[in-house]
Amino acid sequence: MSSRTTRRRLIAAMAASSMLSLMDNVRAVSTDNDLPSLRSRAERRGLFFGCGVSAHAIQADPQFRAAVIADCSEIVPTAEMKWGWIESRQGHEVFSDADVLVDFSTQSKLKIRGHTAIWHQNLPNWVPMVLKDQNGAATFERHIRNVLGHFGDRIASWDVVNEAIWPQDRLPEGLRNSIFQQVFGPKYIERAYEIARAVLPKTPLFYNEFGVEYNDRFHAEKRAATLQLLTRLKRRGLIDGFGIQSHLHVGWGFDAKLFQQFLSDAADLELKILLTEFDVNDANAPADFSVRDAAIADHARRYLDVALGEKAVKGLIVWGLSDRYTWLNAPPYARPDGLPNRGQPLDQNLQRKVLWHAIASSLDAAPVRNQ
Ligand code: XIL
Repeated sequence: MSSRTTRRRLIAAMAASSMLSLMDNVRAVSTDNDLPSLRSRAERRGLFFGCGVSAHAIQADPQFRAAVIADCSEIVPTAEMKWGWIESRQGHEVFSDADVLVDFSTQSKLKIRGHTAIWHQNLPNWVPMVLKDQNGAATFERHIRNVLGHFGDRIASWDVVNEAIWPQDRLPEGLRNSIFQQVFGPKYIERAYEIARAVLPKTPLFYNEFGVEYNDRFHAEKRAATLQLLTRLKRRGLIDGFGIQSHLHVGWGFDAKLFQQFLSDAADLELKILLTEFDVNDANAPADFSVRDAAIADHARRYLDVALGEKAVKGLIVWGLSDRYTWLNAPPYARPDGLPNRGQPLDQNLQRKVLWHAIASSLDAAPVRNQ
C-alpha cells in the first residue's frame, strides 16, 4: 500500500475516532440532561432533596429558579426568616421577602422549611439591650409567636433554635454564651420550643447545629453536648427532629464509624434527621478546577454515603444549589487565593459538576425509607 494511501486511511481513521468522541460528548451532554434529577433519585429512596435559596435569587434569576424546580422538592430561606431580616426596626416586622419564598414554594409545589427563630447571629441591633430589660422575656416570646404564627402551617418544619452549643464557652452542658443564655439562662431553649409548640402544635420542630461531622476534639465535644441537649428536649416532647448543617471542609478528618455512631445515637432518640445546609469548603483544595472538583466530590461522597446510609436521615438540603449563590466566598470562609468556592452541585453556569454526580450516586445507593 502506498504511503499516501496509508496516510489518507490514518487521517480518515483519526477523523472517524474524533467524530465518535464528539458523538460520545454529545451523547454525554444530552444524556447528562436526560439524567434523573436529584429530586427523583431522592424520592425513589423515600428521601427528599432540597436547597437553601434567597428571595433575591428566586426573583431575579429565572434560570436558577428553573434549576431549583428541576432538582428540588423543598427549599429553605437562607436569611429572610431570621430576626435581623424581619425586624431590623423594633416593632416593625417585615415579612415580604420571606413571603416571596413561601409563595414561590406554593406556586411551584415545593415544601419550605422555617429557618430560624432563635439564633445568636443575624439579630437586630436593638435586641440585646431590649432582652435585658424587664420585658425581655415578653419580647423573646412575641418574636417566636409572630414569626411562626405569620407563616402558620405553610411551613413544613422549623429550626426553632439554631447553634446553641459552643463548648469553648465552658458553660455547663457545653451551651453557647449567647445573649439568650446570658439573659434567660439555659431554660431559654426549652422555652423557645414550648412557645413554638403552642403556636404550631402540628409542625415538626427541629434543633439545628453545625460542627458535629468530623473526628477532632472540638467536634467530639459538640457531638456529646448536642446529644445531651437533644435528649433533654426530646424527653420533654419539645422536638421532632435534628438538623445537621453539614458544612464540610476538604482536608478535615472524617471518621465514618464515629459519625455513623453519632447518627445512630440521634436516631435512637426517635428524631427525624435532616442534612440542612450542605456545602463543601474547598479552601484547602488545589486551585485547579478538575483536581479541586474531584477532591470535593470524593470528600462529599464519603460523608453522604454514611449520612444517607442512616434511615433516620430523611432529607438532604444543599446551601445554595449553585456556586453562583454560595455563602462561602465571603470572609472568613473565602479561599486565600481569592478563587470562588466550588462546593455546590451546580457550577456558576448552573451546569452539573462532579459533585452533582457524587450526590446522585450517594442518593441512588441510599437504603429505601418508608417515610
Ligand atoms: C448564612 C447565609 O447563608 C448568609 O447568606 C447569611 O448572611 C448568614 O447566614 N449556619 C446557619 C445559616 O444556620 O443560617 C447560615 O447562613 C450559615 C451558618
